[in-house]
Amino acid sequence: MRQNMSVLIHRDRIANRVRELAMEIGSAYNGQAVVVIGILGGAFVFMADLVRQADFVSQVDFLWLESYEGQKSTGKIKVRQEANVDMQGKDILILDDILDTGLTLGFTREYVLNQGAKSVRAAVLLKKDRENVDPALAENVGFTIPDKFVIGYGLDYNGKYRHLPDICVMEPEKENL
Ligand code: XMP
Repeated sequence: MRQNMSVLIHRDRIANRVRELAMEIGSAYNGQAVVVIGILGGAFVFMADLVRQADFVSQVDFLWLESYEGQKSTGKIKVRQEANVDMQGKDILILDDILDTGLTLGFTREYVLNQGAKSVRAAVLLKKDRENVDPALAENVGFTIPDKFVIGYGLDYNGKYRHLPDICVMEPEKENL
């Protein structure tokens, strides 16, 4: 582990919470099968773990968005790859790694509804504890964390560290990459 990183959420806690989230989301859908859309790049690990424990998945697809440079949001969303699945009349569950400013989930919820979805719900593993973010953006939240930059379990710093099994805090401005 690098000196400027410390473990915030250990892999065992993540595994337990993801299992609980799969059950919480399943009971919200009450046995109904839905289309799951993961937001890339960050959601791939969370999504892989969650869908394999879920009893509510009919199809899985991805929407690849970009909004971050280093540790900062650019404030703009760039679509790198559209989802392919037909969303018309379908119930859509969006999965993302983290809810920070809400820009990404706000954009994605609108995107999904514009594709003709019948309903939309969102689940995130992490939510940063910050003000002025609409709590209705994510119906299911794994952990609320301090407003710090985190990496691991799919989350990156400039494309690095996504493979780390624990969620770690990266201290700002100390990274000599
Ligand atoms: P917004 O601000 O749109 O943020 O709610 C959601 C997206 O921004 C990225 N993000 C982070 N990525 N560590 C990361 O590696 C962080 O602490 C962090 N905060 C936001 C992430 O891509 C997420 O989908």
